[in-house]
Amino acid sequence: MSANEKILEVRNLKTYFFTNVGVVKAVDGGTFHLKKGQALGIVGESGSGKSVTSLSILRLVPKPAGRIVEGEILYRGEDLVKKSQKEMREYRGNRLFMISQDPMTSLNPVFTIGNQIGEAIRKRQKLNGNDLKEKIIEMLKLVHIRASETRVHAYPHQFSGGMKQRAMISMALACQPEILIADEPTTALDVTIQAQILKLMMEVREQYQTSIILITHDLGVIARFCDYVLVMYAGKIVERADVKTLFKGNRHPYTRGLINSLPHLGKKQRRLETIKGQPPDLLNLTGGCPFEPRCDYSVERCSVEYPPVESAGKGHLLSCWRWREI
Ligand SMILES: Nc1ncnc2c1ncn2[C@@H]1O[C@H](COP(=O)(O)OP(=O)(O)O)[C@@H](O)[C@H]1O
Ligand SMILES: [Mg+2]
Repeated sequence: MSANEKILEVRNLKTYFFTNVGVVKAVDGGTFHLKKGQALGIVGESGSGKSVTSLSILRLVPKPAGRIVEGEILYRGEDLVKKSQKEMREYRGNRLFMISQDPMTSLNPVFTIGNQIGEAIRKRQKLNGNDLKEKIIEMLKLVHIRASETRVHAYPHQFSGGMKQRAMISMALACQPEILIADEPTTALDVTIQAQILKLMMEVREQYQTSIILITHDLGVIARFCDYVLVMYAGKIVERADVKTLFKGNRHPYTRGLINSLPHLGKKQRRLETIKGQPPDLLNLTGGCPFEPRCDYSVERCSVEYPPVESAGKGHLLSCWRWREI
């Protein structure tokens, strides 16, 4: 597979939750792709559909309320939406690996860290006994876990939060997935450890040409680590562009709001702006642009008709009625 090939192609993905109070369109028409070795960031406020997008790719949407109702998720041309759960188990923790905010979704409390990393290694290489043990220790060292010779015998609960995250990344390394999905992987960690974990993930990417989807509400993190960005709002992708374009030539008022609320990237001494108003209630969406009530640029049309996806340049797409004028 050449570097430019699409390893993942999501087309018109719709993942809805059918609840007692109505239908929540958590992901409503997601279309994007991921190339080999690319790091794609997904950003948006809480509740915008970032996690449901990643859960959909892994086919882990919570049942029975949640369901992929439409769309395709093509991994190397194979539609994951059509796979059985048995087939999906082969993909997960193998070709696709998810690092989540809670490492315990990937680590099993009843097995030692060494045991679990060993299992992951054995999926790729036939190693046993001392060779396997050495490889496990090497994996722990790669993620900078000190005293790995003894820690290999520890159980997850004996690790701190940061170390559990590293152990999970070590498993990701051992698995050598083609796609590594990290959903707010560092939110619960302190800033120094956050930076280390993200750096490690990018080392994994370098070493194995892993494609990465990094989900975060922090655009600053995306600016540092990603090539390409999707901005999500109320279940829809409202802007997508490469990182440079997004920071220089962004057009969507919501993206602007996110950028203006960044502490480091805004102009010196300028007061930080927060986006006024609240994220929308997904149960009460009108037909218009859901950002309209919070938007400084809105006109009448915005509240009645959802803006179509338009191209603002190479690889730069967005949905806003007013992007040409603002
Ligand atoms: N199990 C669920 N049942 C009903 N609604 C859900 C469920 N999980 C998520 N949602 C809704 O889907 C929307 C998107 O959620 P999510 O993808 O978790 O957002 P985020 O961007 O913060 O990761 C939210 O409005 C949330 O309330
Ligand atoms: Mg989330």
